[in-house]
Amino acid sequence: MSPSLHRDGRADVTVLISGRGSNLSALIDATRDPAYPAHITHVISNRPEAGGLEIARAAGIATSVVDHKQFSGRAAFEAALEGTIARRRADVICLAGFMRLLSAAFVNHFRGRIINIHPSLLPAFKGLKTHAQALAAGATEHGCTVHFVEPDMDAGPIIAQARVPVLPGDDEVTLEQRVLEAEHALYPRALKLVAEGAARYENGRTIFSV
Ligand code: GRF
Repeated sequence: MSPSLHRDGRADVTVLISGRGSNLSALIDATRDPAYPAHITHVISNRPEAGGLEIARAAGIATSVVDHKQFSGRAAFEAALEGTIARRRADVICLAGFMRLLSAAFVNHFRGRIINIHPSLLPAFKGLKTHAQALAAGATEHGCTVHFVEPDMDAGPIIAQARVPVLPGDDEVTLEQRVLEAEHALYPRALKLVAEGAARYENGRTIFSV
């Protein structure tokens, strides 16, 4: 399934966040170009204090909070999240530092139009503290990945990756900064491919067309 484009030729995107929102900011910047094939119409956070909410508001984008702490469990949280997403058209859903695990039922509902950015060259270094993992492994290269979301954590067919070197003397902070800069270039590029239908999900794979 590939996202159908809105009648103005741009895909409507909902972004899910949990924190500071620097990837959200990079996506918003990209969408300011009228030739970019997507625009962000809704930002949803599971944390009321997420800095990204302010970034969205400043850009004039509708925001919602679905605070996971207000729900008895994951099923109730996800039902509320699904209901909130449904309030606006969402051709593509971007996870951008969204720190809740999503159930198979939720992911399957949106499969093919939900994408995530992960700060490692998947399939290496899934989960948290990916920069520490890369340093501990002695990796000489690290980076980030945008992928279609599948039910398993940090799994799903890859849309695009960016590499950065691991330099002598790097610590978690310097490495994270280098990867984050790469993320800010990569996510807009990957969303463009999905929004224009040049990368689409089919049977667990990413199909690219020219
Ligand atoms: C990014 O490194 C992203 O890849 C990871 O969480 C971080 C979120 O940062 N999933 P930000 O909120 O986009 O600044």
